[in-house]
Amino acid sequence: MTRQPLPFAQPVIDEAMIAAVSDTLRSRWVASGPQVLAFEKALSDFVGGRPVRTFTSATAAMEAGLAILGAGPGDEVITPAQSFFASANVIERVGARAVFVDVDLATRNIDWTQAHAAVTPRTKALLPVHYNAPLDAAAIADFRARHGVRVLEDAALAIGSRQGEEPVGAAGDLVSFSFHPNKNLTTIEGGALVLNSAAEAQVAERLRFHGISKLPDGNRDVLEAGGKANLSDVSARLGLAQLGQLDGWCRERARLANRYFEGLAGDELLTPERLPPRDNPGHSWNMFTVLLPLASMAMSRQQFRVALQTEGIGTGLSYEAIHLTSHYRSRGWHEGQFPVSERIGRETVTLPLFVGMTDGDVERVCESVRRLIRNRPA
Ligand SMILES: Cc1ncc(COP(=O)(O)O)c(C=O)c1O
Repeated sequence: MTRQPLPFAQPVIDEAMIAAVSDTLRSRWVASGPQVLAFEKALSDFVGGRPVRTFTSATAAMEAGLAILGAGPGDEVITPAQSFFASANVIERVGARAVFVDVDLATRNIDWTQAHAAVTPRTKALLPVHYNAPLDAAAIADFRARHGVRVLEDAALAIGSRQGEEPVGAAGDLVSFSFHPNKNLTTIEGGALVLNSAAEAQVAERLRFHGISKLPDGNRDVLEAGGKANLSDVSARLGLAQLGQLDGWCRERARLANRYFEGLAGDELLTPERLPPRDNPGHSWNMFTVLLPLASMAMSRQQFRVALQTEGIGTGLSYEAIHLTSHYRSRGWHEGQFPVSERIGRETVTLPLFVGMTDGDVERVCESVRRLIRNRPA
């Protein structure tokens, strides 16, 4: 029996969304326009009313966010060593220095003790990452209050997650989201920044469009060397159609994640700390990552991934330890500094999780994983 290939991630794009996007294409207004405004208003409503501005990616949104926080040459920004490379790269791209700290194995999020200890007179900001499960809002507020530094939350993976009763983005300082197709909501490529005030939102608008400010007499001025990262109406229309379904999708993701726990928990090779943190009701489950018991396995992670691929099961790698990449090694970071990030970077693998998967699909993945970590052929 041939089985359907299972990608590790896949967006939902239904006929209503295709029709909505077609309408936008037919309107001939395809670059930033009314759909961007409508999407930003809907996102703002979704996160409880704070201003939101969209960008062509979360990376662009984070770069603008750091510029709004005033991070630049001579500044330090504290960030976890375990995240997607973008979290650190944006810090270096605005000319500041990424100061890494480890993550906590229990939450997979930033180690707060290390973050507090890393503050120096040069610290301009904290850039913590909602590594899938939401960050603790009280810990973020405590950090701001104690050190008086501003915070850019990288919530690229966390649109739809909740911190207690509130959606991620409702509270805090600046918060960025990604709408890449692997995320819980997609605009194909895209991102957004949640801001504190209309004044900050105006700066975000300038930073994403050449620094241009419109003067009362109709002429234009350039107030800073802005970039070009405005979202298209085509993308915004897709995002708007997706946003209406996001909460339901997050519930379905949580249900599928639960099926993974049922299928994998109790395996003596997959001890609880190898599975994602489970008891987190606000989790929107963008990914289901496991730490492979490589010391007990007869194959490497790469061989394991290839073996799964041979069975039609795609996997992802989320993520390598950033400080061990060539660029950051050239900045003086090295092996042994952040053992938890390094361990996750070595052992992690992301299993398929997307809306549209069936319980049978999850069972199939669990069966393959449990068998392959013991290196038995199908
Ligand atoms: C934690 C994290 N931050 C930032 C990004 C960058 O998002 P984008 O591709 O929208 O720039 C990603 C993308 O995967 C991510 O996982």
